[in-house]
Amino acid sequence: AFSQMRQTGGNRSVDEITQGRRLRRMRKADWSRRLVQEHRLTVDDLIWPIFLCGGSNHSEPVEAMPGVQRFSVDMAVRQAERAAKLGIPAIAPFPHEDLEFRDVTGSHVANPDNLINRAVRAIKKEVPEIGIITDAALDPFTSHGHDGILRDGIIVNDESVEMVVRGALAQAEAGADIIAPSDMMDGRIGAIREALDRNGFNDVAIMSYATKFSSAFYGPYREAIGTSGLLQGDKKTYYIDPANSDEAIREAEQDLAEGADMIMVKPGLPYLDIARRLKDTFAMPTYAYQVSGEYSMIKAAGANGWIDEERVMMETLLAFKRAGCDGILTYFAVDVAERLARGI
Ligand code: PBG
Repeated sequence: AFSQMRQTGGNRSVDEITQGRRLRRMRKADWSRRLVQEHRLTVDDLIWPIFLCGGSNHSEPVEAMPGVQRFSVDMAVRQAERAAKLGIPAIAPFPHEDLEFRDVTGSHVANPDNLINRAVRAIKKEVPEIGIITDAALDPFTSHGHDGILRDGIIVNDESVEMVVRGALAQAEAGADIIAPSDMMDGRIGAIREALDRNGFNDVAIMSYATKFSSAFYGPYREAIGTSGLLQGDKKTYYIDPANSDEAIREAEQDLAEGADMIMVKPGLPYLDIARRLKDTFAMPTYAYQVSGEYSMIKAAGANGWIDEERVMMETLLAFKRAGCDGILTYFAVDVAERLARGI
């Protein structure tokens, strides 16, 4: 054939070099590309993190996250309805509490009437078909922005766990389906599991933020929940060093042994290697959190016309699937679900 007559720079033709194996064959048309496609993103893969604020019939923009808003509880219910109609399996509410509700121990986490718990109750009542995943961490409720109780410059582990457990119980009581503690205190998964079971919440699952890295990608989120001005120091004594991968495996192993039903990698895209290792090692339901900084980077470059925002959004989410994730927490969830519904 014509191609066989072509010589490469050396003596052999391409057919001789490849021995007739041509990987481009299956890429030649849309139908054949679809036929060999290994991974697919569907609406079933999406978890939507949503921000809450006080008031009613009120929404306000998060400046560092273009297109993202905080919603009062009544409006959050409408958003949950919208997500459910699109087929999104679950939402994850995060609160921006007023300063008066933040103290050194984060005690408001245990208040049945805090923003998360009010939202959970309202959504459960009006949109029972959507799953609700709550974060039991203390950072939205502490005056210093940490995920634990701060004493003499140290985040004290065991007392923090007690408070996180109280928060988790309040969330389960409000109707949360999955408790997702993101604080990285040692022993929190086992303590939450025990407390849930002892109080009759055997069916409430635990999604552990098992491998949460000490990352600069959380910046915009801290504006969203109002901790950016409050945070004293950093979170390096409890989140994982971004340099470590074996340590992430040990964290996940521990959380699974303590009773986690699902594990999560956070942030997402820079940590795909961790997702793959977790999936291969444990064969458990594995999730990635495409965090605020990842979202805002795509938004900013898209707004400047430097990248095609929609295509980059879809590509990043597909990459999580390829890396072994069963689902993704993403601020793009509704945009993606709408796109998928339109068949693109
Ligand atoms: C802390 C928490 C963080 C996020 C969710 N819960 C990280 C932090 O503030 O240190 C980050 C989510 C995001 O960046 O989108 N418990």
